[in-house]
Amino acid sequence: MKAIILAGGFGTRLRPLSCTRPKLLFPLANQPILDWTVKALAENGVDTVVLAVNYMAEAIVRHMGASKYGVSIIYSREERPLGTGGPIKRAEHILGRDEPFLAMNGDVVCEVDYRRMVEYHTDREAVATVALVEVERPERFGVAQLDEEDRIIRFVEKPKPEAAPSRLVNAGIYTLSPEIFDYIPPGRPVSIEREVFPRLAERGLLYGYKISGPWIDIGVPEDYLKANAIMLDKVAKEPVIGEASEVEAEVVAPTVLGAAVKVGRDSVVGPYVSVGDGVVIGRGCRIENSVIFPGAFIGDFTSIRNAIVGENAVLGRWVKVEGTSIIGDYVNVSDNVTITSGVSICPSKSVSESILKPGRVL
Ligand code: GDD
Ligand code: MG
Repeated sequence: MKAIILAGGFGTRLRPLSCTRPKLLFPLANQPILDWTVKALAENGVDTVVLAVNYMAEAIVRHMGASKYGVSIIYSREERPLGTGGPIKRAEHILGRDEPFLAMNGDVVCEVDYRRMVEYHTDREAVATVALVEVERPERFGVAQLDEEDRIIRFVEKPKPEAAPSRLVNAGIYTLSPEIFDYIPPGRPVSIEREVFPRLAERGLLYGYKISGPWIDIGVPEDYLKANAIMLDKVAKEPVIGEASEVEAEVVAPTVLGAAVKVGRDSVVGPYVSVGDGVVIGRGCRIENSVIFPGAFIGDFTSIRNAIVGENAVLGRWVKVEGTSIIGDYVNVSDNVTITSGVSICPSKSVSESILKPGRVL
């Protein structure tokens, strides 16, 4: 079976971390989200994955190569972003018209029995089956209304909170039959959620497949941290420490440290922390529920809680970062600065004063 992963675009809210890599190469427990997805597809009998790429396509090609986890990888590169439907039409010649295939957003973490989903789809002779998950606040997503047979009779992308027809949302995972190609106009950007699903719903050709268990779209910092925590629970029940790392500190599981990481004495790292390769953490630091991208430098006595620190960022001594804040790639934070409550600092910026209000620092 074939699958196509939408791997283009860049996450708007996580943009400060995208200067060195596309969103799909963001690490979860130190492995790109794309690796987790391709591995899960391989375990479910997928033999060919089409990666629909545009932004920083070369980085994805370099990382994934021509095959990985026993799956062949074929790249479909867009000259300009084609949205969430256009890339599927563009890959028609690769996906073929012989059998249903899987299509998915590359920025979600979940557990789906893909084989069962395809069976469900085939039994119903649907053109598209959308995995649905129940959430508290549906308005950030595509929302579905079902009939008694789980046919989707209405699909609304990002409705106003009061207009959401249910709390069942599009999990970003689809089984599609080849007829889908007839519903996507070629050669221009198409939103599958806004242009294609509503039309299929009107004709009774769109089904919902409910999934349960953890599901997360990594698009906002709090959810990205949650996704990281889910993967750490899987792989780091005991602390994982990479090669050539020098750790004099306490590492509290679940936590992973990459290769050539240094952590000074009297520091505590964890629980729920991923530290990328080559990161240097000073002494007396406290790091909890956070992701530190490769090459970052964290000065002595600095504390980081519920935050993301971008590649090669430099934090001084006695710095405090919390409140699901993002320190962008190559940012420089001076000694004694405090950053709290949802602050997002753009790449390469120097910060020398505390920021205590939510917002973006350009
Ligand atoms: N190739 C390609 N080209 N990929 C793209 C493009 C593009 O122009 N635009 C976005 N993508 C990829 C993103 O990398 C991501 O993996 C996926 O398509 C979805 O885009 P997002 O920008 O993350 O959309 P969203 O999270 O706001 O909403 C979508 O996902 C939700 C579930 O996570 C929608 O499908 C919602 O209906 C859904 O509920
Ligand atoms: Mg998303």
